[in-house]
Amino acid sequence: MQPVGEIWIKGGTPLSGQVSVQGSKNAALPMMAAALLHDGKTVLHHCPRIADVLVMEQILNRLGVKTRWQDHTLEIDCRKIVGYEIDNELAGSMRSSVILMGSMISRQGQVKIAYPGGCTIGKRPIDLHLKVFQNMGVNIREEEKGLWAGSSTRLQGTTVEFPVSSVGATENALLAAVKAKGETVLKNCALEPEIRHLCYFLQAMGAEIGGIGTDTLWIRGVCTLRDVEYTVPPDRIVAGTCLYAAAATRGKIVLEHAPVEEMEAVLQVYEKMGGQWVCNSGKLKTDAREIRYPVSLTETARYPGFPTDMQSILMAVLLTVPGESRIRETIFEDRYKVVPELARMGGCIAVTGKDAWIRGGIPLCGAKVKALELRGAAALVIAALAAEGESLISNSHFLERGYEEFENVISKLGGKIEIRGKMG
Ligand code: EPZ
Repeated sequence: MQPVGEIWIKGGTPLSGQVSVQGSKNAALPMMAAALLHDGKTVLHHCPRIADVLVMEQILNRLGVKTRWQDHTLEIDCRKIVGYEIDNELAGSMRSSVILMGSMISRQGQVKIAYPGGCTIGKRPIDLHLKVFQNMGVNIREEEKGLWAGSSTRLQGTTVEFPVSSVGATENALLAAVKAKGETVLKNCALEPEIRHLCYFLQAMGAEIGGIGTDTLWIRGVCTLRDVEYTVPPDRIVAGTCLYAAAATRGKIVLEHAPVEEMEAVLQVYEKMGGQWVCNSGKLKTDAREIRYPVSLTETARYPGFPTDMQSILMAVLLTVPGESRIRETIFEDRYKVVPELARMGGCIAVTGKDAWIRGGIPLCGAKVKALELRGAAALVIAALAAEGESLISNSHFLERGYEEFENVISKLGGKIEIRGKMG
């Protein structure tokens, strides 16, 4: 796909109104990969129609999987799978393609995949994924453009303690273990909600999993799984992005289906800035008109800490709050790529090591800037909505990877925004 889009925004309007939160990208992608485990049908409701999901769908189609959309319901028919090679170009465009390894090795006995691409937010190795596979009897071979991994026999359950908790490695291990021989115990698992949602989804397919919601998961291998219909949970990062867009413009919005119970750290920082909110009858009602307090230090952390995916987005909001704020990125080693672009809008941010020092309250001015990765793109949208004048954000395809029709969401909230020239 030739990315050609750019986002036009005219800032200065406080957001107001009500929108509904899309399905979670980071829950839907592993569920799509998990569908491969079963030679039958999977139906995902409330599935977000975003670029990363469409790429994952294309990868599955290349493997012989039949898919069909009806509005936000995605039907995935895995009765016939051909081959074991994941399309290089598609896999290289999206980091989460690595999540296919566990289910492909389980289903086909082998997989050939390019090194995962995705956001330029750090090295993003996959050593933890590979270690688990090796412990389960998988042979791994470096190939010219990626990896071959396979086992001539049924995978063997194992006990693994992750040296660092990893969302993707936990998910891949779960997928490899569901139909392995015997029991698998995974220690120091990631606690992100997407892991819990994947476990419930796998249980609905007939998997035997215990310890859900804790950092120690056990899986008893089964031989068969069943057709399943499942509803993708709402996206906690998209909900947080909408909340923080309203914060930056001092607006008052209502978010329907926001997963408030998964947004504690995000809401805490929102309150620290002076934001107010209440949640009743499934609606998160927010009022950012009193936002005025800088936040001395926000550290990103594993769940339930402040999510790294909200770090750039918070930075954009703190630029609008007079005073000194600080952010510390502890998960990825290169997640400040948006800083120079925010500076072009007048943002005053100094980066020293893991810390970003923000001097807020200097009025932001609309400018021509470029998105370099998914959450940085969202941060630029938020800064542009708060800025005086017009902005043009190039590389809109980064935003479209994770946010479904975000221009319609922001327009519905009164923001002046257009995406010109969608992905080719
Ligand atoms: C998932 O990425 C999410 N992506 C990311 O969201 C999110 O930022 C991240 O988890 C952390 O929450 C999806 O779910 C598709 P990790 P993942 O493995 O699985 C190191 C977004 O914006 N590590 O938890 O790749 C790694 O380098 C995306 O939606 C190893 O060292 O994250 C990083 O420093 C961005 N070896 C840390 O662990 C490994 O084998 C956390 O990575 C794997 C990871």
